[in-house]
Amino acid sequence: MNVMRIQGGIPLRGTVRTQGAKNAALPVMAACLLLKGGTLALDNVPDLCDVSTMMELLGALGVEVSREEDRVLLNVPEDIAWEAPEHLVRKMRASSLALGPLLARGGRAALPLPGGCSIGSRPIDLHLKGLVQMGAKIEIRNGVVHAAADRLRGRRIYLDFPSVGATENLMMAAALARGETIIENTAREPEIENLAAVLRTMGVPIEMEGTGCVRIKGVDEAQPGRERVIPDRIEACTYILAGVMTGGEITVCDVVPAHIDALLAKLEEAGARFSVRKGEVTVFPVERLQSVSLKTMPYPGFPTDLQPQMTAALALAGGVSMVEESVFQARFLYAEELNRMGADIRIKGDTAIINGVRRLDGASVRATDLRAGAALILAGLSASGETRIEDMVHVWRGYEAIDRKLRGLGASVSLEEGAER
Ligand code: UD1
Repeated sequence: MNVMRIQGGIPLRGTVRTQGAKNAALPVMAACLLLKGGTLALDNVPDLCDVSTMMELLGALGVEVSREEDRVLLNVPEDIAWEAPEHLVRKMRASSLALGPLLARGGRAALPLPGGCSIGSRPIDLHLKGLVQMGAKIEIRNGVVHAAADRLRGRRIYLDFPSVGATENLMMAAALARGETIIENTAREPEIENLAAVLRTMGVPIEMEGTGCVRIKGVDEAQPGRERVIPDRIEACTYILAGVMTGGEITVCDVVPAHIDALLAKLEEAGARFSVRKGEVTVFPVERLQSVSLKTMPYPGFPTDLQPQMTAALALAGGVSMVEESVFQARFLYAEELNRMGADIRIKGDTAIINGVRRLDGASVRATDLRAGAALILAGLSASGETRIEDMVHVWRGYEAIDRKLRGLGASVSLEEGAER
């Protein structure tokens, strides 16, 4: 199912439900590693390739993993392995989330360095620096991080950048540390709040001060627990943009509107029409969006994970828009693909200059990464004629049944096999 074909130009209509958040599910699944005997039950876990990779990783470490519909049960025995297999870490960078909890539970962990990826360099130096401050000894040998500590010690840690992954790894490490850990300048993404809720159900006292400060009181033993994964704000926004770009009228339900304020504010500025009710957003047709400019930033700023999809929408807006990427260095690879469809986008350093065109035309294009793939799907839905998107393998990492959900909204979308690169 590596190729998607879209017959564009159909205004979408109907209702679509948001999946559980990929970026919340991955860290909360890793949190099960804090248990020494017992089960962590998670509801609303999306059925995605990245979630399967995390299940595989936990399974390889010795966790008994089972899924029943959207509930995942993670049953952790007292003794588990401490080395993360290289092929899984290479497949998914979020495998590095195993480092903090593995080290905290067993006093040692080995994790191959994740390496770069197509959206830019993605070091884990902030994760490692925080662990060292908590008393871990860290050595990197032959591309593998070896971490050891008798028992981590609670500390005051200031993150040089509000990294999502570093905040999560350190919160999990702190859960079993001796004493209190205060992490400052943390990421404030809703997914961090979800991880805090999971750690609380596991008996770990956590206070979040809402301004980028998290206080965690380490416990001797984590307890079994149960929690629900929050709705996926990036998926919800992608469908909202699909409605806007096709001039359709769709309702996206199971959303937390407060989580998607950054997009809604920009859409309002661009002249989109929508209504927000509890847990639902409905978009209404408008003639054409107007250009807007934006810069991606850590939450509550405009999410980098929505930058390609928003750029696709602005490719059709009246006037010139500027989109500046400040989180990752190389997140504009998809612009050339949109230009193949008739968009007029120029990249200057970390800014895309988008000269809005009146229409896009279907073409054969390639998804260079997950959100790039989503942007091409949006472009294909609004283009005239057929769009053929290769390398859908990236899209399956983050969008559950996107073909079925789009067909449910009236889109003409089909899948075919294609060579995996
Ligand atoms: C998470 C999300 C990803 C999203 C990103 C930013 C998951 C599984 N993935 O990724 O979808 O795009 O947040 O919202 O939740 N950095 C360092 N050193 C570090 C860590 C990060 O320099 O130790 C830099 C990165 O290179 C990047 C920036 O910080 O430029 C943001 O990275 P980070 O917030 O850590 O993103 P991830 O947790 O990898």
